This record gives sequence, C-alpha cells and structure tokens, in this order.
Amino acid sequence: MATRLVIDGGSPLRGEVQVSAAKNAALPALCAALLTSEPVILDNVPGLADVATTRLLLERLGAEISSDRGGGTEVRVGRLTSHEAPYELVSTMRASVLVLGPLLARAGVARVALPGGCAIGVRPIDQHLKGFQKLGADIAIQNGYVEARSSRLKGARITTDLVTVTGTENLMMAAVLAEGTTVLENAAREPEVADLARLLVAMGARIDGAGTERIEIQGVPEIGGARHRIIPDRIEAGTLLVAGAITGGDVTITGAAPRHLTATLAKLEECGATISVAGDRVRCQGRERPQAADVITSPFPGFPTDMQAQFMALLGLADGLSKITETIFENRFMHAAELNRMGARIETEGSTAVVRGVPAYQGAPVMATDLRASASLVLAGLAARGTTTVSRVYHLDRGYERLEVRLQSLGASIRRLR
Ligand code: EPZ
Repeated sequence: MATRLVIDGGSPLRGEVQVSAAKNAALPALCAALLTSEPVILDNVPGLADVATTRLLLERLGAEISSDRGGGTEVRVGRLTSHEAPYELVSTMRASVLVLGPLLARAGVARVALPGGCAIGVRPIDQHLKGFQKLGADIAIQNGYVEARSSRLKGARITTDLVTVTGTENLMMAAVLAEGTTVLENAAREPEVADLARLLVAMGARIDGAGTERIEIQGVPEIGGARHRIIPDRIEAGTLLVAGAITGGDVTITGAAPRHLTATLAKLEECGATISVAGDRVRCQGRERPQAADVITSPFPGFPTDMQAQFMALLGLADGLSKITETIFENRFMHAAELNRMGARIETEGSTAVVRGVPAYQGAPVMATDLRASASLVLAGLAARGTTTVSRVYHLDRGYERLEVRLQSLGASIRRLR
C-alpha cells in the first residue's frame, strides 16, 4: 500500500509554526547557479521532492552540490558536462524547463525535453520559446525536445502575451549574459521573481524593476557566485493559516513575509477569521463557522491560484454560497470531486465552481491529484468528523516539507502510513 496520510479530524489547531523557504523561489535559484562557474550558496533550501529532482538534474549537467557547515546548499558548476535536460526528469517536474535560459546564456546550446501537460492544465511554454527567439536563439522542436542554439544572445524588448512566472524567470536568466539590454514587458510580479533577481544581482547581474510588470536587464559578459537566503513560502504559510481557520483554531506562523500574503489574508478576513500581523508573524483565529466569500484567482498581487484549492476546502464549510473562478489554469478543480466525497456540495462548470457550504465534512478515503489539491484534502480532513485517509501523498511532498509534522505541532491528529 502506497504512503498515505491518516487524519482524525475535529480538533481546533492551536500554536505557532515556522514557515519554510519557498519551493517556487528555491527551484529557479538552484538553476541560476548554471550561469557561473563560481559557487552559489543558498542558505535555506527546503527538503522537498522537487528540490531533489532539481539537484539530480543539475548534477547531470555537471554541478557539484554539497551542504556547507552553515546548513547552506552550495552549488558549483565549474564546467558544464551536458546541455541536456532528459525527459525522464522534465516529465516528473515541469520546472526543469528553468535550465533552458541559463544553459542557452552560458553555453549557447540547450536540449530540454518539452514538458507535457499536467493534471491542472496543458501548460505550454510557447512564451518562453518566443522570448528566446527574440533574444536571437534558434529554436527547434525535435523528437519531443526543445533544441536551442545561439552564438551569443542579444538584448531585445519582449512582451509576453500573458503573465508567466517561470517564463519571466527563464528569460530574465537568459538576458543576464546577453549582449545589450533586454526589456521584459507584462512580466510576472510574483515575489519569487523578485527573489531570483535579488540573487542574480548579488551574482553581478544588472537588473531593474523586478517585482513590477517591466523588468530591464543590462547584459554583462559574466557573473560570479553569491550567498543568498530564499524568501519564505507564501503558499505554505497560507495553507497553515487556513488550517487554523478551517478547524476554528488559533494558529500563528513565524518567519513569514506578510507583504507577500496580502490577498490571502484579506480573503481569510472576508471568511470571518481574525488576522493579526506583527513583524514576520501572522496570527489567524478561526470562527465557529466560516463566512461565504467569492474568490477569483489572478497573477500577483491578486489572489494566488496556488491557494484556490485550500480555500475551496474552507468555503465548503461556510455559512452560505461561494463562487470560485479559476483564471490561470484550465483544469484546477480536481479536488472538488474528492471534497464532495467528504460531504461537500460543490458544482464545477468550466472555470467556475459554485460551493454551497455544509455544516460539517465526514471523514472518508480520498485521493490527491496534484500538489495543492492534496493540501486541500488534508485541510478538509482536519475539520471532518471521523477519519480521512489521503492517498497519493507524493503530490504533497513535492511542495510541503513534512506538513504532517508541522500540523502535529499544532495539535492535529495526523500520521503518515507507509
Ligand atoms: C508557476 O508555474 C508556479 N510554479 C506554479 O505553482 C503557479 O501555479 C504558477 O506559476 C502561477 O502562479 C513554479 O514557480 C515552479 P505560468 P508556471 O507560466 O510558471 C500559461 C505550485 O503549486 N502559459 O505563470 O508554469 C499557463 O498554461 C505550482 O507550486 C502559456 O500559455 O505558470 C497558465 O495557464 C503549480 N504559455 C498561465 O499561462 C507559456 O509559455 C500561467 O502559467 C507559459 C504559460
């Protein structure tokens, strides 16, 4: 029997818990080390399955990775021994595509498996490829691989047709070593993009405007190493706060970045939770029953799509009717059917879900379908009457570092069965 989580629900969570470093900042930061032959030290890389996959991929490309005495992870790519990101790795983690920009910039050649679709959507990378072509690269798709070549990338003005997080990160990393200036318009403003720019600037890159929709990068011949602390994970933080709200508990997260959480905190307040912020601490006091609220996902600083599933679990218990509109991914309601197995009343149609709140969930065996869906099932299980068993937990481990241990520290009755 595969690993699963068993949860006895019904107890309000209470206490304090530390937030980990952000998965979606750690992955591009690790890939940025490909841009230099000098060591890049990342102070707080989280212990996640996706990080392990990225380490494997970087080692395939020639990286030497070690942990230093301070607990930091040192990545040194003294020499690239390969330019290929193989299908067997890219198919397990689409963020592997983030090696394309650095390889093209440093070596002028890259062969990266085209990531296929995933549970939440088709997720093409056309905007990444169009951007690289604008920087002067020759791009071909052959046998399921992106073949990219360029003697030296040249700065250009790139306006993506839509806001793409890893697209912005990939193009920004490529432009760092390009000849001349690149301007990225309609860039993603996510905190993870700004954190990557902070690392690249520490390595010697020249970047202005990261965190806004217009980023300017002046190419330099080469960059060096740096030491960098990765930002806290705003999605893990949001998930832990919802755990407090959905159980009617009182949870404080520490080591967070509240300015990255504004939309999530505002929505929690709309659902009736009491939120207080002090420095890097955020406290969430849930109420007997959440209030209904409508949710529309959008790029940062809007409401994060990566919190949509967790809020669906919360709103499933609300007093009233809520409407959730998913604008980023075309197939991100897989958790709805599983929540309905626990007694929720959720109807989905296209990009809209109508959630009629019920007084309580019943424990049930449920199956995770993707990373954030698995978190929503764990949250529902914490609130449910009886026992919930969540299977396919490998989805959860991709983006949460020992979530059950953090929840246990808040009083949850949750255990991992192998
Ligand atoms: C990043 O994915 C995150 N992953 C996702 O988190 C997150 O959901 C997403 O941004 C949106 O916030 C990482 O950072 C590793 P996009 P990314 O490119 O960059 C379409 C999680 O749970 N699109 O911003 O792949 C795309 O299909 C994960 O931690 C194109 O059409 O997302 C989507 O509909 C899940 N062409 C939309 O744009 C492109 O070339 C936004 O995608 C690129 C994207």
